[in-house]
Amino acid sequence: MSPDRRGPLVVAHRGASAAKPEHTLAAYELALKEGADGLECDVRLTKDGHLVCVHDRTIERTSDGTGVVSEMTRDELAQFNYGTADEPAELLELSALIELALDSARPVKVFIETKHPVRFGGLVESKVLAELQRFGIASPPSADHSRAVVMSFSAGAVWRIRRSAPLLPTVLLGESARYLGGGAATTVGATAVGPSVKTLHEHPDMVDKAAAAGRATYCWTVDDRTDVALCRELGVSWVATNHPGRTKNWLAS
Ligand code: G3P
Ligand code: CA
Repeated sequence: MSPDRRGPLVVAHRGASAAKPEHTLAAYELALKEGADGLECDVRLTKDGHLVCVHDRTIERTSDGTGVVSEMTRDELAQFNYGTADEPAELLELSALIELALDSARPVKVFIETKHPVRFGGLVESKVLAELQRFGIASPPSADHSRAVVMSFSAGAVWRIRRSAPLLPTVLLGESARYLGGGAATTVGATAVGPSVKTLHEHPDMVDKAAAAGRATYCWTVDDRTDVALCRELGVSWVATNHPGRTKNWLAS
């Protein structure tokens, strides 16, 4: 694989989350309207085994409720407002986000990041896979045509996904270029590495190195114009941003 010279595809980080509350349907609908190529979400398991799109361990920051996601049932979590007082929003389940992406006229991908992999020891990954199977998107014809990408900071989580769904694209996320380029991605069979934009600045050669090993690069969270330009210059495949519309416009100019 060579670095992607077509320019990066734009992934809406937690939706168009600079403009709308993160992980809400409104944030993802706006991202689609703004032309996002992918929709990023974080998923956690509820106490009763449902996959919900919540970044933090608790819901304090992103709702008007309190509590730990994994210690509450879906119905308990669903009582709270995940939007604002003026624009209330419901708890978003992964299934609703996948439906939104698959209903899009464009072949939008869902980038699913699994959280808390240690505590549940693989349960979250097997639930994600079951969900992708239910939608018929767990065994894509090729990585390019996949409608789902599974990502994690946990090498174990990526390995579990690769073992169970070898055709599904995966991203091993990390802050360290040495770790991402030093064999971890190879060991677990990740199809892409996912450095932060800070790491990319410090180690711009990692895109070429990943490409030489047959891997794409997914960079997060790319909100500045100069960073978008750097990603394009280096041949990054996907940029995750809180501003999908603005980023699409910059890439088009
Ligand atoms: O897209 C990857 C990025 O979202 C990882 O960091 O904390 O925003 O989940 P975080
Ligand atoms: Ca994330």
